[in-house]
Amino acid sequence: MAYEVLARKWRPQVFEDVIGQEHITKTLINAIKSGRLSHAYLFSGPRGVGKTTVARILAKAINCEKGEPGVPCNECPSCTEITNGSSVDVQEIDGASNRGIDEIRELRESTKYMPSSSKYRIYIIDEVHMLTKEAFNALLKTLEEPPAHVKFIFATTESHKVPVTILSRCQRFDFKRISPAQIIDHLEKMTQREGVECSRTGLAMIAKQAEGSMRDAQSLLDQVISFTGSKVEDGNITEVLGIIDRDMIFETSRAIIEGEPRKCLEIVDHIYNYGSDIKEFYRALMDQFRNLLISLIASRDYLLDMSESEKEEAARQAGIAGSEKLQVLLNFMISREEDLRFTSHPRLILETTLIKLCHIGEFLSFDDLLKKIESLEKRLTASPGAGRQPMADHIADSSADSSADWVSGKAGKKESKEESAAKSGQSWDDFLSFLSSKSKATYNILKDWQLIKLTEKIIEIARSSQSFSSTYFDDPERYKLLEDYCRDFFKTDIRVKIVNNNQTKPLKSSASQAKHPELPPPVQEIVHMFQGEIAANKKGGVKK
Ligand SMILES: Nc1ncnc2c1ncn2[C@@H]1O[C@H](COP(=O)(O)OP(=O)(O)OP(=O)(O)O)[C@@H](O)[C@H]1O
Ligand SMILES: [Mg+2]
Ligand SMILES: [Zn+2]
Repeated sequence: MAYEVLARKWRPQVFEDVIGQEHITKTLINAIKSGRLSHAYLFSGPRGVGKTTVARILAKAINCEKGEPGVPCNECPSCTEITNGSSVDVQEIDGASNRGIDEIRELRESTKYMPSSSKYRIYIIDEVHMLTKEAFNALLKTLEEPPAHVKFIFATTESHKVPVTILSRCQRFDFKRISPAQIIDHLEKMTQREGVECSRTGLAMIAKQAEGSMRDAQSLLDQVISFTGSKVEDGNITEVLGIIDRDMIFETSRAIIEGEPRKCLEIVDHIYNYGSDIKEFYRALMDQFRNLLISLIASRDYLLDMSESEKEEAARQAGIAGSEKLQVLLNFMISREEDLRFTSHPRLILETTLIKLCHIGEFLSFDDLLKKIESLEKRLTASPGAGRQPMADHIADSSADSSADWVSGKAGKKESKEESAAKSGQSWDDFLSFLSSKSKATYNILKDWQLIKLTEKIIEIARSSQSFSSTYFDDPERYKLLEDYCRDFFKTDIRVKIVNNNQTKPLKSSASQAKHPELPPPVQEIVHMFQGEIAANKKGGVKK
């Protein structure tokens, strides 16, 4: 017997077996049970998520002679004919190849005849958005006065191309992408039944590639099996699908975090010889650092496509690095991505980037040192009568003055942080340490943000320039939670105002930038990043 592809072999034959579209199948079953069927349905949604499948099950359920309402028996002549595609009463029409007026006229003619052996004549028109304007008009006439024995089921991946006049005469159902977890479970069931050995991590890689389409997932699995036979190793999957080996990615992030440039070079050599795509590898590595960050600030459930042992390793690496370093690493990688995209020497760029990433830890400890000095300085200036402003305020000033938002209506200089904090008797740093005991996630985000203003009524903070966390409090619930924490802590009815940070620099390396205030900010950043020194500064000759 010829090999039957998984997608066909596993096409669900009853509503119950359709995965992830319960919002649709339940409604349809109820409609059939209560005899309240619409005369036209429109199924829209991405490719391979069950539109055609559900259309056929619906057709069967409507015309089935035996099964209980809403459950086609899949045995009676009507059901088997629909499954084989040989039913005279249920016609499947491909809108892409029958898109003209003539075909639709023919269809209209046929609707006049009574069904030959079932209750209804059912027309399933796939890719209905492909019909021509004239064809739609012809179809509209039938939809306006549908014969009682006719039902239409339209399916489309592009519902926006279907005229409103048609849409408004159909009951519409939007199919969803299927979640990775549901795809993984389903693939696992299939491999077990087919006698194929494949790890869940491997299936997760396939599910990720499939981007919510069950058919794509099944076809990818087909491809892999036809390559490996019944014993599938994770490495086979990466090879067949051209995905980057995950162990390699973990090994690279570990080497970067633990500062092992030599190891990184070995890895580059390996992936180069292996023929993997260097840009793909880089993208996967950025993903990896994003995941490490997530593992620090959010629940592990966000790392869906990782196995348990990978989640553990991710947490371990993230713990060693800490959120600050991870953000710096990620930012550096983002800044380098462009170079890699346009270069004709990707290997070279990858190698130098990885080496630099390995050294970022050293810069960071340098940065940490500066922070300590900074906070010491703050404490000194906070004592009564101290004349100098804390350094953090200088930074806020210089980066913020251009934004009217920051100054909250006052033309003059904004209040010194320490002055206003003194009113409420509590400082921002105290609040942060309070937060760290209440909500690690909120704390981890906020410690990289900047306090602009703190009075009894209002607390104004600027987002960090890290794109990753800058939108964290855009979520109303998180925002509300933050306000609650502030009220709890400052014991006043304080409001939280979030403003944008105009700093373009991803680093808060205030002190190192202040080291060469005469230089343009990008140059300062580079000096900081490479822990460099300015040997000579020829006027007008400083280029990026
Ligand atoms: N929700 C689902 N549950 C279980 N299997 C599914 C589901 N969706 C798709 N499949 C699998 O994928 C195959 C193709 O699905 P189907 O033809 O219904 O997709 P479709 O949404 O009509 O896609 P297209 O827009 O490309 O026509 C099915 O035979 C089945 O094996
Ligand atoms: Mg289809
Ligand atoms: Zn039947």
